[in-house]
Amino acid sequence: MPRAMNETERPAHPPRKRVAVLISGRGSNMMSLVEAARAPDYPAEICLVVSNRPDAAGLAWAKAQGIPAVALDHKLYSDRAHFDGQLHALLTASRIEIVALAGFMRLLTADFVAKWTGRMINIHPALLPAFKGLDTHARALAAGVRIAGCTVHFVSAGVDEGAIIAQAAVPVLPADTPGTLAARILTSEHKLYPLALQLLAFGQVRLDGDQVWIDQKVNHKLALISPIP
Ligand code: GRF
Repeated sequence: MPRAMNETERPAHPPRKRVAVLISGRGSNMMSLVEAARAPDYPAEICLVVSNRPDAAGLAWAKAQGIPAVALDHKLYSDRAHFDGQLHALLTASRIEIVALAGFMRLLTADFVAKWTGRMINIHPALLPAFKGLDTHARALAAGVRIAGCTVHFVSAGVDEGAIIAQAAVPVLPADTPGTLAARILTSEHKLYPLALQLLAFGQVRLDGDQVWIDQKVNHKLALISPIP
């Protein structure tokens, strides 16, 4: 019978969760996750980056970091079901445990989403449930909101509709354009996404039905507020 490990032999940390990041372009949020995961005590490692656009700048960056980076060109697939089937096979073959969408500009089928329920998260540059979908910054400015921000949420079948994990708020300034507001929010995205992934990988948040269960010890970490720049 194998003997039990004693205290000094036991690994200091449980195995890190294997994460895939799905992108379509620049990939700055993916980079923030990769940078965060360089910390030895971060509970997740970025094992795979996938882009549906072969020319995505983020894909080249990931390759240069030595991270397995795969282009899955959606134009080569006859329909969404085939594309999502191939994506699922790739994730499974890489033993991925958590999928993080980071500027992944492609709708996923309900079938694919169901397979990853509770294990797939997304970042959206608005304070959901307001301003779902595209052109969020321009629509926030047109609506005259004084506070904008970003949201990390579990992915559900409806676009930008899944249960909210964490949010960051930033001020909207009178001279803002969609570009300046997007840049201010993006700075917060780069803080919020690594934090949310860390909490999920540690098991400190999880999907419970259509709600998020939160370990009360970390409750205060789930709302970031940026002061006026
Ligand atoms: C981010 O603003 C993200 O919230 C949204 O798309 C943008 C992607 O930027 N879903 P990047 O590719 O991560 O730099």
